[in-house]
Amino acid sequence: MPRYAHIIGWGKYVPPNILTNEALAKTVDTTDEWIRERTGIAQRHIASSKESTAMMAVHAAREAIEVADVNPSDIDLVIVATATPEYMFPATACLVQDALGASRAGAFDLEAGCSGFMYALATATGMIRGGMYNTILVIGAETLSRIIDWNDRATCVLFGDGAGAVVVRGSDEPGGVLASILGSDGSGGELLIVPGGGSKHPTGPDTVLSKMHTIKMSGREVYRFATRVMASASRQVAEQAGWSLDKIDLFIPHQANVRIIDSAAKALKLPPEKVFVNLDRYGNTSAASIPLALCEAIDAGKIKPGDHLVMVGFGAGLTWAACAVQWSTAKPGALAPPRAAVSRLRYLWSGIKSIVARALRHVDAAVSKLIDIFERKPPEE
Ligand code: UT7
Repeated sequence: MPRYAHIIGWGKYVPPNILTNEALAKTVDTTDEWIRERTGIAQRHIASSKESTAMMAVHAAREAIEVADVNPSDIDLVIVATATPEYMFPATACLVQDALGASRAGAFDLEAGCSGFMYALATATGMIRGGMYNTILVIGAETLSRIIDWNDRATCVLFGDGAGAVVVRGSDEPGGVLASILGSDGSGGELLIVPGGGSKHPTGPDTVLSKMHTIKMSGREVYRFATRVMASASRQVAEQAGWSLDKIDLFIPHQANVRIIDSAAKALKLPPEKVFVNLDRYGNTSAASIPLALCEAIDAGKIKPGDHLVMVGFGAGLTWAACAVQWSTAKPGALAPPRAAVSRLRYLWSGIKSIVARALRHVDAAVSKLIDIFERKPPEE
């Protein structure tokens, strides 16, 4: 019996703090008009000092888990797609796994730039369809505001922060993620890069002074690449799913530039009502952009069971990726108050367990040290 991978839960988080084009134009040489005309962006959400990639990922994941109506301990694997992890290591996915109390789950981060969420969804689908796992939490989360050069008008107007998550579950019922396309062309790696802070240019005064820890982008070349791959990857993935292009009910592209989206939609002959766009309110949130758009499309009533969706991303690497999804999950009603309370209690309990586990680790280390001291033989005379 073939296995299928269905998206059964979804959730999102964006920081409440909004940065409008007008506000940005007061700090850097740009205008609201230029940003809207050239990109379609009107505002973006920016994380406060209390918000970070793991925190936003946890919020989005909790929502997705509630919609899916699964217990965190049912989750087999947590994948966080991000280019702005909480730390170099440990993986952000491990922090999320702990915060959720997903005690049985493995966890890893996946870095494929703005295509990250698509790569992660394809990975989860393969693992489920192959029978390795049954329930996988896939998250795209970014705090891009922390790696932006706020004096570079060519990049600082484009990006925003946020997170989106889905729960993917195995089933014998046909549908769900039916096809995936992954692509890479590393020869274009330098076109979109954060050059500092890795093994090639480790962080030091020189990398910081030359702002090598911030995004460097050749916008025009990335633009040309994007318009090329968005349409071709979408065509390929639809074909792999056995769909003609007119079967697509909703196209959810990576939200980077409305002109790139329009050009892909035109090449695919998709009318505007079949193309989901929300980048005017969020800017480019990289790996979070597609799950954020998916959540908003569901909230707006644009997706119903049986619909054929194509989601496609492109970004640093250079990478591109697409998935064809036959949607199968009805939008659930609000969680009943007792269930919501149980869920809050469960997260509180996993928070307490995590603190106790950390404390016990310290006690264990201290006791082991004491035993070492007592067992140490006196030095020979
Ligand atoms: O997720 C993947 C991430 N990256 C992308 O998706 C980026 C893809 N590229 C793009 O979206 C577009 O190339 C941009 C929006 C980045 C730039 O738009 P463009 O139409 O390609 O503009 P450009 O880079 O060719 O620049 C045109 C002019 C230049 O001035 P000159 O040389 O013609 O005098 C820029 O200096 O616009 C100027 N410019 C700006 N002016 C006002 C660049 N940024 C700004 C700005 N405000 N923020």
